[in-house]
Amino acid sequence: MLSKQPLYEQLHLSLEEINEMLLNIIRSDQELDHTSELYYSIERMIAAGGKRLRPIMTLIGGRFGNPERIHLVWKAAGLLEYMHMASLVHDDVIDESELRRGEQALHAVTDIETAVHAGNYMIARALEWCSDEELLEEDFFTGAELAALITELCVGEYNQLQHRFDFDMTFEQYLEKTKRKTALLMGACMSAGAKAAGAAEEVAQKLYEFGESLGIAFQIYDDLLDFTSKSEEIGKPAGADLRSGQLTLPVLYALDDEKQAVVLRELHEASQEEDFAIAVQMIEQSDALERSRQTAQQYVEQAEHCASYFADHPHYCDLQVLVQYFAHAAKPKQ
Ligand code: IPE
Ligand code: IPE
Ligand code: MG
Ligand code: MG
Repeated sequence: MLSKQPLYEQLHLSLEEINEMLLNIIRSDQELDHTSELYYSIERMIAAGGKRLRPIMTLIGGRFGNPERIHLVWKAAGLLEYMHMASLVHDDVIDESELRRGEQALHAVTDIETAVHAGNYMIARALEWCSDEELLEEDFFTGAELAALITELCVGEYNQLQHRFDFDMTFEQYLEKTKRKTALLMGACMSAGAKAAGAAEEVAQKLYEFGESLGIAFQIYDDLLDFTSKSEEIGKPAGADLRSGQLTLPVLYALDDEKQAVVLRELHEASQEEDFAIAVQMIEQSDALERSRQTAQQYVEQAEHCASYFADHPHYCDLQVLVQYFAHAAKPKQ
């Protein structure tokens, strides 16, 4: 059953505490002018909200380790949300998207240069803030692992750019790209929380697989939202993915149908708005959305299976709460 309570409440976490921790990461930077546009931009990004799924997942991962190390888990949570926020700032520049978290995207408020700098600063600052000796000693996340994560994210976004209007993209390529740009970070949140709390490698690995499966489902649901929601609900223009040439899962499934493939394969960067509108409507009326939902559901079930490894753990119920939340992610963003 889907609870009406926000996720953080179901998991007994305080949103204020998470937001306060995120603000402290910039407040504690003595070298940053606190009256600068950069400072203000990051403050604004934090204030705009967001579901805070990544810090929530990190904090839950931490419950599978030693509670005495909770301060280190919080550090990991901050680092990973900063990486996520930076990726959103850069993603909106790449996607030329004007809306984020229901408000104007950062680059639309400042300019592209400032937004790119803000994203770069956030990654660098988070890494610096997190270079805690205790964390490094405990092998929480080596610098190389973190760098690899950022690389994967960049490659994922780059793959997406490369495949714009590529109607020959395969499901495997879609999955690879989705893992890189979204699922890997969610998997890393679960395992980093556990590692920061000193959990065994096997525990961290199982939690990683759990988070990665949820992440794939999450991105498929996000792809679906582009077809099923109004712009005011999702905080970005509806139908925008296809118009910018992104081949999301519903489009791939629509391509399986010969008639639909003919219409879709005609689309290109300079197509008329009318042609995009016809294609979007065609996909909405086909079985592509339902098939995508089923695929997302399979990944939620895969996550459920990973979670069953922890069936005897006192925090197994927290994983079940996450599964329930992600199983219903195909609704307008909160
Ligand atoms: C948006 O992530 C980017 C995707 C991976 C689809 P979220 O939907 O978690 O964004 P916020 O943090 O809640 O704004
Ligand atoms: C997800 O990509 C964002 C990142 C992983 C950086 P999308 O382009 O699908 O995300 P939204 O829809 O803009 O939030
Ligand atoms: Mg985008
Ligand atoms: Mg994008």
